[in-house]
Amino acid sequence: MSKEIIKIFDTTLRDGEQSPGASMNTEEKIQIASQLERLGVDIIEAGFAAASIGDFDAISKISQKVTNSTVCSLARALDSDIKFAGEAVSRAKMKRIHTFIATSDIHMKYKLKMSPDEVIKRAVRAVEYACEFVDDIEFSCEDAGRSDIIFMKEITDAVIEAGATTINLPDTVGYRMPFEIADMVKEMSNYVKNRAIISVHNHNDLGMAVANSIESITNGARQVECTINGLGERAGNASLEEIVMILKVRKDIFGDYDTNINTKEIYATSRLIANITTIEPQPNKAIVGKNAFAHESGIHQDGMLKNKETYEIISPSDIGLDIEDTLVLGKHSGRAAFKDKLFKLGFELNSENLNNTFNRFKELADKKKDIYDDDLRALVTSQMSNVNKEFELIRLQLMDCSSGVPSAAITIKHNDIETTDAGIGDGTIDAIFKTIDRISGYQGRLMDYGVKSVSKGKDALANVTVKVKFNDNEPAIIGHGLSLDTMLASARAYIGALNSYLSMEGMLKAKNISSQNSI
Ligand code: KIV
Ligand code: ZN
Repeated sequence: MSKEIIKIFDTTLRDGEQSPGASMNTEEKIQIASQLERLGVDIIEAGFAAASIGDFDAISKISQKVTNSTVCSLARALDSDIKFAGEAVSRAKMKRIHTFIATSDIHMKYKLKMSPDEVIKRAVRAVEYACEFVDDIEFSCEDAGRSDIIFMKEITDAVIEAGATTINLPDTVGYRMPFEIADMVKEMSNYVKNRAIISVHNHNDLGMAVANSIESITNGARQVECTINGLGERAGNASLEEIVMILKVRKDIFGDYDTNINTKEIYATSRLIANITTIEPQPNKAIVGKNAFAHESGIHQDGMLKNKETYEIISPSDIGLDIEDTLVLGKHSGRAAFKDKLFKLGFELNSENLNNTFNRFKELADKKKDIYDDDLRALVTSQMSNVNKEFELIRLQLMDCSSGVPSAAITIKHNDIETTDAGIGDGTIDAIFKTIDRISGYQGRLMDYGVKSVSKGKDALANVTVKVKFNDNEPAIIGHGLSLDTMLASARAYIGALNSYLSMEGMLKAKNISSQNSI
């Protein structure tokens, strides 16, 4: 008997990007989309085209790059949003517009201030207009989890008639329990039959997002919306890796279903996204947490040595964890081996980025004896966050801060001119950042600072991440800096954030192009 394929709709680049944190630059988004394609997701929601010129630009570049997954843009039920979405995905081989409007009483009354009839009219208009750009149209009843099912049937009939091919039922506020979601999905699937695909989109406010998604599948949903590492607005979305591995590991229950996901790419995808967003999954997170396959207690270790199945229900190799932690490359490794290794880790660099990263790898290999997968990941991530090299750090010199006032002397190259200045601060890092501000002429406000040692050993690299706001009305920008020296890594991270900001500056300013029509 042939299995039912459950479509995996990944919204890491859209709902995931709404995680409190910071914006990714276009190059980083393209890297993530390429890895999602390799992972085998059916639909990549690449962003919300009308939100900013940056989102629009990233979606259109992803549309030109990705060929094996459908590329989708979100759009409110507004002509202006639909137009941006349609144009952004226009060059994709397979394209979708995902439009939505709220259908719960509370949202219609207080947020939209619209009557149910007006909501239906707006939804129908949006879907009809979307048909002018694409054939594949998804319509979401926002807050479906708290919507009246009779009204949802009515709006669903109308939007299917207008051309919608997928009906999505989001539990927007993560309120429902699995048995409640099961009832809603069953009733809607039986009602819609084969007129459209039923999809679900569960938020995790009560920790039920994955359970709700699984219940939805067994009750008729044929698409699930999810994110890598469970990223997303507030408590996040249903985690892609958990849903997929549940279906795979519990074939005894879910043997009738399958996905197109290549589970061996899960770990690489999770690491790529954690590195770029700087949001690490909790250590005990199912499937991809640092400890997910660690066996601490003596009794467990003893059992594992005798037979792995005593305590292991998933083999690490099923998610691609077997290639991990190996000593990878040395200073004699060539460019081809380097490129191949990066590809296995989920990175596909253009020749300029590959050359730059290879040169940095060679410099590192001269100083550091053992280079591990995590070192390479950090190297590429810091390279990607710094593709635009408007400002380049040439020298950093620190004064002894134990006896006097912390101070830094810095040389930065900009437009081929080197400028040196020195400054003081409340601490060494403050002195470094203030001096960079003075030389560059940009005033950054540090929102977050993190330092982590990469891989292991006393000569471990310091990976510094910063989130910096250069303009109060715009999101913070992530910067990554890598060095054997923490202060140098900090300076690189700060300049990386500034360079990323400059590459997105005009694009961020246009945030909420259509906010005057906000619904
Ligand atoms: O949670 C939600 O309702 C959404 C919709 C826009 C699909 O993200
Ligand atoms: Zn959502």
